[in-house]
Amino acid sequence: MASVGANQKRAGERVAFIAGNWKMNLDHLQAIAFVQKLAWSLKDARHDFSDTEVAVFPPFTDLRSVQTLVSADKLELKYGAQDVSRHLSGAYTGEISAEFLKALDTPYVLVGHSERRQYHRETDDHIADKVAAAVKNGIVPVICVGETAEDLELYGPSAVPVSQLHAALALAGDAKEIVVAYEPVWAIGSGQAATPEQAEQVAEQLRYVIAEVLGGEIADATRILYGGSVKSSNIAGFLRQPNVDGALVGGASLDLAEFASIAQFRKHVGT
Ligand code: 13P
Repeated sequence: MASVGANQKRAGERVAFIAGNWKMNLDHLQAIAFVQKLAWSLKDARHDFSDTEVAVFPPFTDLRSVQTLVSADKLELKYGAQDVSRHLSGAYTGEISAEFLKALDTPYVLVGHSERRQYHRETDDHIADKVAAAVKNGIVPVICVGETAEDLELYGPSAVPVSQLHAALALAGDAKEIVVAYEPVWAIGSGQAATPEQAEQVAEQLRYVIAEVLGGEIADATRILYGGSVKSSNIAGFLRQPNVDGALVGGASLDLAEFASIAQFRKHVGT
């Protein structure tokens, strides 16, 4: 019988994953205060981390501080970086390698966020290299895919995310664990989230891609997140979908009470 991976409670039941992408917000001192308060708040709420994993994705300059705090206080919170270099080392001024992230015990890294694709001209090739660099260093890539409003009109709901995921996995054939975040560009920061049904429709297609490239077992174990205007008032609807296993939260992850409430989505599943 196949063994049950760390992110699987039992066959077919994945540990939920709530991730906060801080983007370019909160310096290292603010990060320390925020993570401390978040940990207290989840402790007060008796948060069950074995049921729902919670992670923050701060800017690079915060990572060492967050790592120190998490390890010194033995916090169950996880953290990740927002990007990684496609190169492993060398003369690449300003870049941060996967090895450096590994040295900070960074479990996760976002790859291919739409803001990187849009404002930093990251292509599918860059993203495939970054995924490969993360995998090579034992860091789980959180691969972000999503269509623009124009893509949606031209190609329908899942064509662009599916092709982006195929491309991102081009060099990741030996990956044992990945996370995929479906973030429609039109829903990011717009206040207009996708419907849970829209998210499910794309997540299901993305799971087929993972099965095709990495095999059925990994596809079953992979957490697929929805991102784009997630709030405490709409999170429960997404998590009720069979193929949506969590959320990648932007703006609302900077509001401590709101993010803690999103992490505690099981308490308002009936709402
Ligand atoms: P918002 O939650 O602010 O829409 O951002 C989503 C996002 O881009 C997370 O990576």
